[in-house]
Order: sequence, then structure tokens, then C-alpha cells
Amino acid sequence: MESFLELAKKRYSVRNYLLKPVEEEKLNYLLECGRVAPSAANYQPWLIHVVRDHDLKKKIEETYNREWLKQAPVILVFLGDHRKGWRRSDGKDHTDIDIGIIADHISLAATEQGLGTCWICNFDPAKCRQAMNLPDYLEPIAYLSLGYPSDLTDQTSRHLKRKSSEEIIKFDQF
Ligand SMILES: Cc1cc2nc3c(=O)[nH]c(=O)nc-3n(C[C@H](O)[C@H](O)[C@H](O)COP(=O)(O)O)c2cc1C
Repeated sequence: MESFLELAKKRYSVRNYLLKPVEEEKLNYLLECGRVAPSAANYQPWLIHVVRDHDLKKKIEETYNREWLKQAPVILVFLGDHRKGWRRSDGKDHTDIDIGIIADHISLAATEQGLGTCWICNFDPAKCRQAMNLPDYLEPIAYLSLGYPSDLTDQTSRHLKRKSSEEIIKFDQF
């Protein structure tokens, strides 16, 4: 069985997709992997909008103007519900962190299933709000494109570029 480290290293940002649709069972499996994600105080301040419908998908594509996004058969839009996010005593809202966790569960589960994803945060949030007719309290925080990778050599050099453990990990003394 694949170790978690192998799975984590296998995931990369897929920006090339086959026309092949994502099977319903696989999509449901990924969504279930997201549903069980942890969140601050277990408040689960999230909604996942599965976008496959041609008209809505086209509108979402217009919020992030990249040709490759049009290839992805599915776009998952992660909405944070700021009314429901846990707030620490200093007022810090943890919704963004929670959304990061649920989306990452799904992204890694997709890799396990032979699917590919790419995180997208550089979309136009106002356009997205308009396309989805969102109320103020729901913030579109991230998208994941989802589908079968068309080419494994799609990996960018960024994928292999990570800081060393010496640079990012400190034991005990700050
Ligand atoms: C929070 C977040 C936002 C991102 N937004 C975008 C984006 O808008 N467009 C894009 O092409 N990639 C986006 N990425 C993908 C990163 O560029 C990518 O994860 C990073 O360069 C490492 O490459 P890898 O995912 O192939 O390992 C985003 C990733 C994260 C985690």
C-alpha cells in the first residue's frame, strides 16, 4: 500500500486534463474524504459547490481566465461561511484554515484515485459571487479543478522545489 508520504509526493498541480468525465462514485468518494475533515471547534463552516453544468462552468471559467481550466470536467468551488467559522478570543476567524484542510483532503484523495487537481485562488471573487449569486456571508475561498490528468509530464519545476527541512523546521528553541 502506498504510504502517505508517497501519496503527498505524487500530488502535483494538474493543468492538463483528458476529456474523460469523473465517475460519480469517485466524485462521491472524494467529497466524503472532504466531509470528514477536521475544523476549528468542529464548526465545519464550509460548502462545496460541485460545478459540472455547462453554463455555470463557463461562468466560473470566466472568473479565472486560463485555457487549461476549460479542460477540467469538474470545478469544485469551496465556499466559506463566515457566520459559522470559529473565532478565537482575539477575533481571528478560522474559516480560511478550515477550507484549506477540506480542500487538501479532497486534493490528496483525488491523487489516490488517479485523478488530478489544481488549487486556484487567483480568481476574481466578485465575478464568482455574481456567477453563483452568493449571499454576503458566503465567501468563495478556493477552487479545485478536477479531472484525469492528460499528461504526467505536466509537472512544473515548482513541484520539485521545496524548502529544506533545515529551513522550515526548528526543534524546541525558536
Ligand atoms: C492556496 C493555493 C492557491 C493556489 N492558487 C493557484 C492559482 O490560482 N493558479 C494556479 O495555477 N495554481 C495555484 N496554486 C498551485 C500552486 O502554484 C502550486 O501548488 C505550487 O506551485 C506547488 O506546485 P505543485 O502543486 O505542483 O507541487 C495554488 C496553490 C495553493 C496551495
